[in-house]
Amino acid sequence: MKPTLLTIAAATLSLGAAIPALADGQVNIICSVQAEWCNMVSTVYARTTGVKVNMSLKGSGEALAQLIAEKENPKTDVWFGGTGDPHLQAAEQGLSVEYKSPMLSQLYPWAQQQAQQSAFKTVGIYSGPLGFGYNTELVAKKKLPIPKTWADLLNPVYKGDIQVANPASSGTAYTMIATLVQLMGEDKAFDYLKGLHKNVSQYTRSGTGPIKAVARGETAISVSFVHDAPGEKMQGFPVETVTPSDGTGAEIGSMSIIKGARNLEAAKKFYDWALTPATQEMGAAAKQFQLPSNKATKVDVRVPDFKKIKFINYDYAKYGASAERRRLIARWEKDVNSLPR
Ligand code: F6P
Repeated sequence: MKPTLLTIAAATLSLGAAIPALADGQVNIICSVQAEWCNMVSTVYARTTGVKVNMSLKGSGEALAQLIAEKENPKTDVWFGGTGDPHLQAAEQGLSVEYKSPMLSQLYPWAQQQAQQSAFKTVGIYSGPLGFGYNTELVAKKKLPIPKTWADLLNPVYKGDIQVANPASSGTAYTMIATLVQLMGEDKAFDYLKGLHKNVSQYTRSGTGPIKAVARGETAISVSFVHDAPGEKMQGFPVETVTPSDGTGAEIGSMSIIKGARNLEAAKKFYDWALTPATQEMGAAAKQFQLPSNKATKVDVRVPDFKKIKFINYDYAKYGASAERRRLIARWEKDVNSLPR
């Protein structure tokens, strides 16, 4: 049986102690996962607690830009989801506050580490590997090989057939740049990105744009988080993924409470609730298949099997640092995005 909002709400209610006491009030959230998951979280939380939820949807880079813009007069209480690097940057820039949730000890070490290295100003809520998406029908029709390594994407046969997101707005694309820099060294990674640029038809605003374009047959190949493909496949689209055999990075999707939050107590209650297994299971119920951070959360079979993927030893502290992120994105704008294709 497919879980519905109501069955999830009922399951959440039956957890009793795991959810905050019924209370009024409101909480303002920026949500950086896909709309269906954001809406489910918002609706179930409002229905089960009586708290009014104001939610706006923004990609990771755009969310950070908004928080910087409203720093003097914050309108946001919680930032839910999105790649971990901009959450670490927000912590470093004093945009988020320390909070040690009583739920912390229930989380995997990678999620707790995300909290520790930000002085508890953010926390991991999910993780997911970076890879390539491809449209099975389109690659067969165009007789394109299925890319297996990062180097494969430079093959001129893919000219105009690859979509990637723009790192200024998308945490997915920034994860790609940081992964390549760690894999190849910075200068080689930028030579690589210049080569890739020749094959890219479009840099999308959102990180999920390229896999959606692949699913709908608008492009053959994408660089995407592989957990974003099964949801497209469930809608009947011919999409598959691979992770590069030469190694890849993973995101630690995160959550932060904003400094100066007008509804600080409500923010903390939402935060604790968001770390419970019942809430984390809403990801898969909304057809999104990241690995949840609470060890007790049921893992859907469509969540990528991390044991089968070759990962680099991603340095989250280094690549989440403000100066490094800003520098790499500026270099990409100057050395890569400005080049003709
Ligand atoms: O919601 C899907 C997702 O891939 C998340 O796993 C990730 O944190 C987020 O999108 C990144 O979005 P963007 O690249 O637009 O910042």
